[in-house]
Amino acid sequence: MKNGLPDAIDVVEAKTSKIDAVDFENLVFGNVFTDHMMICDYVNGEWQNPVIKPYGPIELEPSAKVFHYGQAIFEGMKAFKDDQDQVWLFRPEDNFNRFNKSSVRLAIPEFPKEFFFEGLETLLNLDRDWIKKGFGNSLYIRPFVIATESGVSASPSKSYKFMIICSPAKAYYSGEVRVVFAEKFSRAADGGVGYAKAAGNYGAQFYPTNLAKEEGYQQIVWTDANTHEYLEEAGTMNIFFRVGDKLLTAPTSDRILDGVTRKSVITLAEEHGIPVEVRRVKVQEIVEAAEKGELKEIFGAGTAATINPVKGFGHQGKKFELPELEDSYATFFKKELMNIQYNKSEDKYGWRYLV
Ligand code: COI
Repeated sequence: MKNGLPDAIDVVEAKTSKIDAVDFENLVFGNVFTDHMMICDYVNGEWQNPVIKPYGPIELEPSAKVFHYGQAIFEGMKAFKDDQDQVWLFRPEDNFNRFNKSSVRLAIPEFPKEFFFEGLETLLNLDRDWIKKGFGNSLYIRPFVIATESGVSASPSKSYKFMIICSPAKAYYSGEVRVVFAEKFSRAADGGVGYAKAAGNYGAQFYPTNLAKEEGYQQIVWTDANTHEYLEEAGTMNIFFRVGDKLLTAPTSDRILDGVTRKSVITLAEEHGIPVEVRRVKVQEIVEAAEKGELKEIFGAGTAATINPVKGFGHQGKKFELPELEDSYATFFKKELMNIQYNKSEDKYGWRYLV
């Protein structure tokens, strides 16, 4: 160890900090980045020693494969600060495991666990002041890897760049969220890359989401590509439906992301005796439940989105509004999760990770 930092990681500290110029009360999600970033290159069949250096531009050949074939994957994680100034991650092993699962699917070499955690912890300690206390404040962490080899032959790159960048965050959505159920476009197909956090999964959603926005919806709930009869996940989050007192969500599959927030909600529902059914959810059953007044809530669950209530939905040109509830499940799960994330309640499941 040198200066309390692991030997394997070279650290170049920023000469000045940008922090004083940041308005932490009015953050727009993902627009501001902390003073440092982590970089680790894969060359000659090996991940090299990670480097942490001031956040800034990187140089790539225009022929780098990431630009041509989208060979890139990412993760989304968050760090939270408690009242004693301790910094916590939430289930980071799950993100790390999913990172490598996504990499395998995109023919990217897996990233070493010790580099991931040592690098991330060193980075978070350097940029600790960027993590503000209080419910709703967090540091959004974006690990990602891109194919850097120069050449436009359609084959996997021989070199890669792993990076972590961090952005102070408040809410992902600045206003109310209404969703439309997809009728024509699809997010993922059987045997495809839907379960991976492949960059292209998100880019491919922009066009249909723009069309949805023109109709007054912020997000699409994707339906299965074969029949469009079953609800799967939304663009930035997994999705839950409350019919009566019962909570419904689609099972994970090779089309649906195994969301960390999603599975935490399922565990908390089971613990608190909320009936939860993880099964295929038909569009028709949700529409009928809404028509009968039995559909009480829809909410999204994701790292960036946290637990996000959905105010209404659209289907085949019809618009449905959802009631305001005193006993909202979304509010309950959000509070339960935040209590764990901000070290305010017992961590029964070992989800907190002290940095
Ligand atoms: C996350 O929740 O971290 C995600 O990756 C969603 C992202 C597209 C904002």
